[in-house]
Amino acid sequence: MVDVQTFIERAILQIRKEAGNEKVVMALSGGVDSSVCAALAARAIGDRLVPIYVDTGLMRKDETRRISELFGEMNLHVVGAADEFFAALAGITDPEAKRRAIGEKFIRVFEREAERTGARHLLQGTIYPDRIESEGGIKSHHNVGGMPLEIDFDRVIEPLADLYKDEVREVAGGLGLPVEIQHRMPFPGPGLAVRVLGEVTREKIAIVREANAIVENELIEAFRPWQCFAALLGQGTGVKGDVRLHGWIVAVRAVSSRDGMTADPLLLPYDVLSRIESRITAEIPGVSRVVYDLTPKPPATIEYE
Ligand code: XMP
Repeated sequence: MVDVQTFIERAILQIRKEAGNEKVVMALSGGVDSSVCAALAARAIGDRLVPIYVDTGLMRKDETRRISELFGEMNLHVVGAADEFFAALAGITDPEAKRRAIGEKFIRVFEREAERTGARHLLQGTIYPDRIESEGGIKSHHNVGGMPLEIDFDRVIEPLADLYKDEVREVAGGLGLPVEIQHRMPFPGPGLAVRVLGEVTREKIAIVREANAIVENELIEAFRPWQCFAALLGQGTGVKGDVRLHGWIVAVRAVSSRDGMTADPLLLPYDVLSRIESRITAEIPGVSRVVYDLTPKPPATIEYE
């Protein structure tokens, strides 16, 4: 990347040129990529930017409230779409089909918002590794390979398409975004849906959301991992309160990485792992087993699907 201020100036000019005189819809997720995109676009086209936040029902605990607080002054429109997303995911077990269903739903929601506001273009915070992994057939990142072929926008504007994550964080610093956003852990576009193996249901999402919150609470400040989270693997036999329970198996993952292309598991102290296990099994009734994932990327990916 060229230096940060030069990048910012060029990106603003590029967005202005590509947007022309039209309005542009963009989805803010609260992550660093979309926040940087929104800040650049706000400078480039002012109130012709139509920022929306899609509450897919697949977001982390308290996320919708947090985003509304963080971006309230941007005139953020919160679109409640959980019912639609769960309906679109019903019965789908194949990981790629799940991503496609989510990508498709997102685009349809964006199109509806564009229609409502008269916007012609779509702005996305796609970064370089998203494109590489989608094009290389590793998996379709929902904002790239998971996108339907037919979309009703004149143009998709992607000002961060050549940047790695650490470069996006530098740009966030250059734009003066809050440190909380600058250093936010990556969170996948398809949300908690890729942290539940197989079919997505409200019950599974509710469990994995609680487990994620516990893992983040125990690890983010203490260990500053590149990413840490919980995933729901399936069900197995357990005993809870003297009763046999066909309970959920939760995997805990915490990795270090530079750019998400490769990753190593954190060698966490045993007492920390043990506390995470006790909290998850005590605080979430349906969970009877917790495992820690020791696999680097490759051969595993960071996310489970
Ligand atoms: P994987 O699981 O491929 O993840 O090793 C690499 C990084 O990308 C994030 N990720 C995604 N981000 N849309 C996104 O915006 C997606 O579909 C997606 N899938 C994975 C993942 O959390 C990690 O930081």
